[in-house]
Amino acid sequence: MNILSVESSCDETAVAIVRDGREVLTDCIASQVDLHRLYGGVVPEIASRKHIEAIYGLADQALINTGLTRDDIDAVAVTYAPGLIGAVLVGVNFAKAAAFAMDKPLIPVHHIRGHIAYPDLEPPFLRLVVSGGHTMIVNVLDYTKMEILGTSLDDAAGECFDKVARVLGMPYPGGAALDKMAQTGNEHTYSLPRSKPGENPYNMSFSGLKTAALNLIHHAEQLGEEIRIPDLCAAFSAAVSDTLVPRVELAIRETGCKKIAVAGGVAANSRIRRDILAAAEKLGAQVYMPPLKLCGDNGAMIGAQAYYEYLAGNVADMSLNAYATKSILGEAL
Ligand code: KG4
Ligand code: ZN
Repeated sequence: MNILSVESSCDETAVAIVRDGREVLTDCIASQVDLHRLYGGVVPEIASRKHIEAIYGLADQALINTGLTRDDIDAVAVTYAPGLIGAVLVGVNFAKAAAFAMDKPLIPVHHIRGHIAYPDLEPPFLRLVVSGGHTMIVNVLDYTKMEILGTSLDDAAGECFDKVARVLGMPYPGGAALDKMAQTGNEHTYSLPRSKPGENPYNMSFSGLKTAALNLIHHAEQLGEEIRIPDLCAAFSAAVSDTLVPRVELAIRETGCKKIAVAGGVAANSRIRRDILAAAEKLGAQVYMPPLKLCGDNGAMIGAQAYYEYLAGNVADMSLNAYATKSILGEAL
């Protein structure tokens, strides 16, 4: 089954063709990140406009790359939630029009379920999703059956990386630059708080850490003191990792599941990768790290998940709407 899949929930327009949820025939992406960098973050109106400009060309490109024609496409899938509402709507409207014109099923896919889809891994497995918009630990029981163990109660981890990086003068999105800077730093120069376990030991908080780091920078500026940027970056990365990794360890222990996969842009962080690998080794668990290319947003992840949504009977009609927020557990449309 060839699924043409569309993703436009944030600042990446993507169209892929995926066969049977496993084989990525093509994965076309137009990133807007250079444009949004000028403004220090994603500007929703610009994102919507750029998605409209890119989406038709990408769909054509996907067909050209694979040598397939419209007749070879068996279904159209699309991210319908969550994301910037204007941006998600562009993809949803395009996918509805394409499905209608080709008279093919329309499969709505939750963006985070897309991040959870992992081509080489069969459930059950644990999934740590850490991106610019989401931070959660999910117990994936089956392809369309999952349980959220815990989430960030405030900011996403990537959002905090980007905010601290921005105040340190790094261009948006600064997570990767901060990571690089951290590698030459001493994490013990500065002391930053760790998120304490609350009622649900899997839940976490990053806003206190972010505020502490920003206060430290502003305070030094006021006193005319120089910040040792690599040291602060190292201390910050360590604090984020110390918040995430013990919860992953707890999940492995409590569920008894020995497979853990990591997704989202922050999964590229070298400190987090190192700590998760060490924790998993200690517990005899296997870690699955997607290639860096598949850590960020892409169409292939939507096409992979769409196959299992289709098999579970999750198809939509022309009344499908876009949603800025929606639970990953997927209530009725
Ligand atoms: O998953 P993603 O590409 O987009 C969504 O948010 O859906 O994640 C982007 C986030 C940004 O916040 C970016 O700064 C962060 O991932 N990121 C990193 C690293 N590489 C990307 N954060 C920390 N360390 C990195 N190496
Ligand atoms: Zn994403």
